[in-house]
Amino acid sequence: MERLACSRCGFGKPVDIFDPFCPHCGDPLVISLAKKRRRIRKDESMGAARYLDFLPLAKFDPAFSLGEGGSPLQPLTRLAKKFRLPNLYAKNEAVNPTGSFKDRGSVVAVQKAGSLGFKTVGTISTGNMAGSTAAYAAKAGLRSVVFVKEDTSREKILAAAVFGARVVKVRGEYSALFRKSFEVGRNHGIYFANSVDPYRIEGYKVTGFEMFEQLGRRAPDLVFVPVSAGGHLIGLMRGFHDLQEAGYLKKMPRFIGVQAKGCAPVVRAFERGTGRILPFPRPRTVAHAISNPHPPGGNIVLRWIAANGGMMMSVSDRDILRSQRILAEEEGLFCDPASATTLAAVLRLARAKVFSGRERIVLVISGSGLKTLEELDPMSFDIREAGLDGLEAVLSA
Ligand SMILES: Cc1ncc(COP(=O)(O)O)c(C=O)c1O
Ligand SMILES: [Zn+2]
Repeated sequence: MERLACSRCGFGKPVDIFDPFCPHCGDPLVISLAKKRRRIRKDESMGAARYLDFLPLAKFDPAFSLGEGGSPLQPLTRLAKKFRLPNLYAKNEAVNPTGSFKDRGSVVAVQKAGSLGFKTVGTISTGNMAGSTAAYAAKAGLRSVVFVKEDTSREKILAAAVFGARVVKVRGEYSALFRKSFEVGRNHGIYFANSVDPYRIEGYKVTGFEMFEQLGRRAPDLVFVPVSAGGHLIGLMRGFHDLQEAGYLKKMPRFIGVQAKGCAPVVRAFERGTGRILPFPRPRTVAHAISNPHPPGGNIVLRWIAANGGMMMSVSDRDILRSQRILAEEEGLFCDPASATTLAAVLRLARAKVFSGRERIVLVISGSGLKTLEELDPMSFDIREAGLDGLEAVLSA
């Protein structure tokens, strides 16, 4: 059985689903796997089964899977030409079964919940993780409970409820709810697979493994990732770190974590060089999926980003919405505002002439735009009305 370890102070303990935090640093604990020879299983197709040696699962049981993973690494050819960045790609996680990268983590965490004998899994979420956890629970024959922020969109609430989850819209402060969920979990025997759950994070490593293979067994030079709680970025970094440890990779990519200007606690700590994050007052952004004002994984992100020569950046809502439109209109890729932060960050760096043009750059598109339609302004599109006999006039107008 794997153990939990603190990546800051080295504290370790057996896995405790109800308390996966370091008692000294407060940071989330990560899985430490017993060292063994690890290899990519070439006989398996993309997704978790191919990288089983790197995951805390004895086997990958397809009965828990909805077909997640194996997402395309899409060359952004038109944008590449326009912005003179010939090696620009999008790792499109929006194609996952419930429309976001969360499925990569849910498949591992829910499988673990099943093998540990839990009957109910839970999560607290701004939306995507709710639907994902509920869907995987349904597939596994488990019950699910999701606590969402009270301002979560109708689409996202319904997209969780439809799987039979008990959905609770919670009033109150998000980080207090985060802590409270573990207490509720312990009292009711519910495995809360939250944003920085150690097993969920292991699932995110797979995205990194796939990117490496899709680039012809090379790492990208730069990986742009939207950051909220920090779980996704921690998982991606751990994935490349595992590849390096297993001898597949010499040099780690540099990670650029992106937040919205209206909720940028990790960026603020990065820029001030304080080393520890503070809660961000009054978060406000169109990128709701990345609006956690006090990210539990923030300190780990800060430390690891700096260690690999990466950085944190923030982008404005205006640039986020513009980038979302660019990806849709130029590349046929409809992502949510959180994902669009990655292109906004690239465009800002391109304007500042930071790139040489030779870098292999990957934007991690974390979620689908179809769940955030309410953020689009219908007035800004070319939508007209006509009767049958007015059709041709409308086209030539
Ligand atoms: C679409 C999308 N992108 C990015 C994130 C941020 O991921 P994390 O909270 O692991 O940093 C989320 C989290 O909810 C999300 O739903
Ligand atoms: Zn510690």
